[in-house]
Amino acid sequence: MTGLSVRGLTKVFRTKSGSVHALRGIDMRVEPGEFCVLLGSSGSGKTTLLRCVAGLEKPDSGEIRLGDRIVFSDNPKTFVSAEDRGFGMVFQSYAIWPHMTVFENVALPLLHGKRKLLRQEVRGRVAHALRLVQLEGLQDRPAPQLSGGQQQRVALARALAVNAQALLMDEPLSNLDARLRESVRYEIRELAKKLNSTVLYVTHDQVEAMALADRILLIGEGRLLQSGRPHELYEKPIDPAVAEFLGTMNWLSGKIRERGFVQTELGLLRVHGAEKVGSELLLGIRPEDIRLKPVPSGEINEFRGEIVDNTYLGDHRLCKLKTPGKTMVAKLVGTDMGYGTVHFQVPEERIVVFHPNHKGKEESK
Ligand SMILES: Nc1ncnc2c1ncn2[C@@H]1O[C@H](COP(=O)(O)OP(=O)(O)OP(=O)(O)O)[C@@H](O)[C@H]1O
Ligand SMILES: [Mg+2]
Repeated sequence: MTGLSVRGLTKVFRTKSGSVHALRGIDMRVEPGEFCVLLGSSGSGKTTLLRCVAGLEKPDSGEIRLGDRIVFSDNPKTFVSAEDRGFGMVFQSYAIWPHMTVFENVALPLLHGKRKLLRQEVRGRVAHALRLVQLEGLQDRPAPQLSGGQQQRVALARALAVNAQALLMDEPLSNLDARLRESVRYEIRELAKKLNSTVLYVTHDQVEAMALADRILLIGEGRLLQSGRPHELYEKPIDPAVAEFLGTMNWLSGKIRERGFVQTELGLLRVHGAEKVGSELLLGIRPEDIRLKPVPSGEINEFRGEIVDNTYLGDHRLCKLKTPGKTMVAKLVGTDMGYGTVHFQVPEERIVVFHPNHKGKEESK
């Protein structure tokens, strides 16, 4: 399998109402056999980046390599067509042809264009791809007579049948209901790992990204904000925007009163790495890191609050904790603590510290 890399990629769409800077200098790479998830909010440039890599969109500047081969460069000018880049692709609307059978849908890219293969080989490849996605036996079925999840797997089989250098997927699960999405995403990950595929997968759903990715590439407003393994982004976000995107965060602003102690809206907090007395900090605490207790235990960073909201969510509860200076959200697993006075502790080692005015640096791995 082949890796891919992108350097300094920019793309501007010129419209009647002005220019849209969709990509503002993206540097990234996907190692051979790596499953990378491009994560970002709507309009952040994910689809544009994927289409540029695929060869369906022409960037303004930068370079794209597939393995050692340059498939796009602005200097010297190089543009390899989508067909000659040889990616397997699955898109959001998985483009299943309703007037064709399952077999014909999967065989389509093998029978046309430069990849044209002998009938015999096509049959073998389609059968193999359908086996991989567990649709063997359904090859003569008209495509509309399949469930949503099965149609999605036909689209996946079609991408696999071309024996692609790498797979590009753009929100392939968004048309499926929540339960099916979970099982199909598991299948996609299993299959990619079994085939040792290089995958670049787009989603705006952080849970999906965490479940699938070897590495997440977080993109915002056409820039790469951070890349790393799911737990690295969740636990060590390089700036508040990354932290916020990966899940709920309680924010406290504070000033270092003495070494190791920060004055915040909650009160005086002991914070690891708070060195420079007088300087300001932004502190982030995840709801699941707050420890609720019915009685005070005398530990450091313990405060008193009042549960003013308590929402049952099956395997956990979300509690709103009101204190004189700040209302916090805490995730509670286990015994319900009802409403009213409660004690809670913020473990020092779980506090994420940001220095305001700190600019998240772009990674150019
Ligand atoms: N063909 C186009 N012409 C003009 N602007 C475009 C075009 N395609 C995309 N854009 C703009 O470029 C920006 C990035 O769009 P893109 O489709 O890459 O976002 P995305 O991250 O895939 O979003 P979503 O999660 O909603 O699919 C957006 O502001 C979008 O409006
Ligand atoms: Mg998109």
